Amino acid sequence: MTAPDIFSQASAAAAYIGTQTPLVPRVGIILGSGLGAFGTQVVDATTIPYSAIPNFPQSTVEGHSGNLILGTIAGVPVAVMQGRVHAYEGYAMNQVTFPTRVLALLGCNTLIVTNAAGGIDPAYRPGTLVAISDHINLTGTNAALGPNEPRFARTPTSGLRFFDMSTAYSADLRAAAHKAAESLGFSLPEGVYLAVLGPSFETPAEIRAFATLGATLVGMSTVHEVIVARHMGLEVLGLSLVTNSAAGVSAEIINHEEVMEIGRQVESRFTALITAILPNL
Ligand code: HPA
Repeated sequence: MTAPDIFSQASAAAAYIGTQTPLVPRVGIILGSGLGAFGTQVVDATTIPYSAIPNFPQSTVEGHSGNLILGTIAGVPVAVMQGRVHAYEGYAMNQVTFPTRVLALLGCNTLIVTNAAGGIDPAYRPGTLVAISDHINLTGTNAALGPNEPRFARTPTSGLRFFDMSTAYSADLRAAAHKAAESLGFSLPEGVYLAVLGPSFETPAEIRAFATLGATLVGMSTVHEVIVARHMGLEVLGLSLVTNSAAGVSAEIINHEEVMEIGRQVESRFTALITAILPNL
């Protein structure tokens, strides 16, 4: 027997989630490394461990706890992914992007995707929050690889074999993010996120090359989720938390503990920002 196709698998996952709560989420939020504590902000929460959801991939990384939390934040129905899986864990592209597919099938028309990133721009100090304006996918693969699946289309013009990425990170959502940051008294720089496969951090020569390409942030996630979100017609807001200066930008050695610690330090500002953005989406 052949394995069910990804659309059927994602539909089964969404159907199971529908048996746990009647809530129809409008905004999907994927929390990056160190940012999982935001999940506690969800009101009237239904928490579903990834392990309970049919076909859902399990994260193997510390700092990615592995729960889908449905409820409301600032009155907006949301589905929050506390933890994600990455290609460097050995997951295939359609597993990395599976949760994003499920968020769309649940009803989300907006995706807020967050990550921990290295700062290539020396002006980004550790702890800086940055709105992603565009990305460069240097992971060597593409999440939309394989047969096109038009049943994933959430809008009349999505679900195409070839689809536009020139407005992947919505200008309107970025404007809402800037307004929210301003109301909280800080500014939100914009940046270009370059994705590598990982899990090794970069060499200083790689970071110099990436700077030449126009990247200001580097990380190991996000781009594939954004590609499938755009395939389905979702609007995307990308937020990076700069947890460290990228290799060679400062003399410091990069480690995962630092990534987690900066996440904890910025938690309250990050929470306040997303909570202020949500009503304006
Ligand atoms: N490089 C890649 N991914 C990262 C980094 C980095 O410096 N920091 C956090 N995630």
